[in-house]
Amino acid sequence: MRELERNRDAPASTEASSELGRLAVIGNGRVGGSLAHAARAAGLEVRVGGRGQVLEAVRGSDIVLICVPDRAIADVSREIAQAIDVTTYVGHVSGASGLDVLRPAMERGAPTFSLHPLQTIPEPTTTLLGVPAAVAGSTPAATRIATTLAERLGLRPFEVPDDQRAAYHAAAVLASNFLIALEETAADLLTRAGVEDARAVLTPLVLRTAANWSDTGRAALTGPIARGDETTVARHRAALRAMAPEFEPLYDALAERTRALATLNRSQPHVEGGTQVSTPRIVRTREELRAALAPARGEGRTIGLVPTMGFLHEGHLSLIQAARERCDVVVMSLFVNPTQFGPREDLAAYPRDEASDVTLAGEAGADLVYAPDTGHVYPPDFATVVEVGGGLTDVLCGDPARRGSAHFRGVTTVVAKLLNAVGPDVAFFGQKDAQQAIIVRRMARDLEFPVEIVVLPTVREPDGLAMSSRNVYLQPDERVRARGLNRALAAVSDAARSGETSTARALALGEKVLADAGIVPEYLEARDAETLAEVERFDDRRVLVAVAARIGSARLIDNVLIDLSHGEDPA
Ligand code: PAJ
Repeated sequence: MRELERNRDAPASTEASSELGRLAVIGNGRVGGSLAHAARAAGLEVRVGGRGQVLEAVRGSDIVLICVPDRAIADVSREIAQAIDVTTYVGHVSGASGLDVLRPAMERGAPTFSLHPLQTIPEPTTTLLGVPAAVAGSTPAATRIATTLAERLGLRPFEVPDDQRAAYHAAAVLASNFLIALEETAADLLTRAGVEDARAVLTPLVLRTAANWSDTGRAALTGPIARGDETTVARHRAALRAMAPEFEPLYDALAERTRALATLNRSQPHVEGGTQVSTPRIVRTREELRAALAPARGEGRTIGLVPTMGFLHEGHLSLIQAARERCDVVVMSLFVNPTQFGPREDLAAYPRDEASDVTLAGEAGADLVYAPDTGHVYPPDFATVVEVGGGLTDVLCGDPARRGSAHFRGVTTVVAKLLNAVGPDVAFFGQKDAQQAIIVRRMARDLEFPVEIVVLPTVREPDGLAMSSRNVYLQPDERVRARGLNRALAAVSDAARSGETSTARALALGEKVLADAGIVPEYLEARDAETLAEVERFDDRRVLVAVAARIGSARLIDNVLIDLSHGEDPA
């Protein structure tokens, strides 16, 4: 729908009235009365034809405006057909009807139009000044006449193609009639809750809300759904079920629509005074997730996924920030995946702080946090795994004497599920877990996941220690020793850059640094950065030098990429 520009060359009022000629208004109800009133006030020559005077009013008129109930328009059109000719413009003022109801007039060769004031008209003298009016015409001239007439009556015309009539009218019903249905429902509920004079109590809220919406659109959305507070929503639904179960489907349908709008607000936030306020919405099930992402997907907007196990630090946040820059909608998954923990590993003790994670994720730019329960991801009869071979999963951390390939089977199984649940265009991983990133990339390629895997540099503490959720396990003295990991990697890469071609000799320098720090590594190895095959020499291949060690109760990993053809990667 587009508002028609006022025609600059439009004749001034008296000329306009002569251009429009004589107007016959058929029907003297509220709409006909108000339009005739406006026409007279505008200086037009008007004849009103009520029942029995239709033909009399129509004869000799240049424009006939049929203002009768929808079901009677076709009959009036048939009745007047004999009294008009090819120069008479015949229009109706119905919102729901198209031009087809004027067929008898059209068959006489008369151009037809519609002109629907988008306003409730409670009385025959309602003022229509400034009221928007939908116009359509069977010919460009008819559209022009409808537009000129609307403007002369003080209305604000906008064009609605005749084939979009039903959609236009549905929108009007949503905006007006359904609002009343909604407010009556709210008032009814309030009354049942024991509040007297519910309408008076609700009125200021309703008027303020309408004014806010008029000012800012969907940014005016407030309340629990916009805040992602599904606990409160669950309490509402329980109250409704107990008190007014017949309203529950309405509540649910509107809640779903509100969630979709809130998601849009987060991904395209309303900027107020230069600051963007966004709290990500938490979703617990794949169904909620899909529903939340459906509008963005429908609009062809890009979705980014950052899989995490939570207890967020700057490393995780750097991935969310990168996703925010690359994608329209950012989803962070928060799931401590049991299948990637070995029986003697720290699953139960793994640090968790969901509330803080959600806040941090929001500040970094996440729109949605997908935090499913274990039972949702792995129902009791779950029976499928995704396993990558090719020598990628049984070396380094995948060595059977270390975490074993079962760890990576757990990672690839859950990442495959997350990719399927979210359906992202881009998924973001950290170079910190270099082997994981290589394996996930291979899985996505081999299984044709339609996703781009982006791997981002390791974020470190000022002293070089790679950030990790597991760093919280370190006692102060262990925290100091842990610096040895990054220093050992630096020693290896320094040697390689200084011309040492033997990986064994360079690694020996690294081992010395570890020993000096009191660290006994699980491994310190140099491997091809794509195939993870062992490499004996630094040449023009990209070489991954990776280390793992237990320091106190924490098992820490780190790595550096050595690319002598392009200098060193800042991992
Ligand atoms: P988690 O250890 O929580 O890490 C989530 C993501 O953050 C991974 O891609 C990881 O590589 C990245 N990351 C961790 N520390 C980082 C740092 N210091 N700098 C940059 N990125 C860092 O990795 C997992 O979770 C899980 O295995 C998961 C992929 C979510 C599957 O369960």
